[in-house]
Amino acid sequence: MANILVLNGPNLNLLGTRQPEVYGSTTLAMVEDACKRHGAEIGLTISCAQSNHEGALIDLIHDARGTQDGIVFNAGAYTHTSIALMDAIASVELPVVEVHLSNIHAREPFRHSSYIAKVAIGQISGFGADSYRLALDALATHIRGGRPE
Ligand code: DQA
Repeated sequence: MANILVLNGPNLNLLGTRQPEVYGSTTLAMVEDACKRHGAEIGLTISCAQSNHEGALIDLIHDARGTQDGIVFNAGAYTHTSIALMDAIASVELPVVEVHLSNIHAREPFRHSSYIAKVAIGQISGFGADSYRLALDALATHIRGGRPE
């Protein structure tokens, strides 16, 4: 079983009540439960973490080295601003799939750029809570060297 960290950044603790017209009505707890259930189905052990603090997210990425085989990461607004998170991902050399509930490319111009995308193996954006499941599938396939389960 591969170990995967599902990591969420700022304001994602408010999922379910935060701008439901943009992010849907699924709570973070529901997203995390769904990730754990789907992970079990495809042979992944899922750990989940969320922080509103950039430094805490950096520490969680550092801690993933040696314990996790990959990260599914929704960095929230830090996606568009954080060179420090980009550097943290590059430093640990773990495969990261970037996730967004909304389609960031169809929103305001400042959301179109991503520092995370520069160091991620790929980006999944716009499928609501399903984005996480799709990211887990992509990461599982990547870890297995492109082979389906
Ligand atoms: C988000 C998109 C970001 O632009 C925004 O700042 C978020 C959520 C998403 O999941 O769609 O906080 O990452």
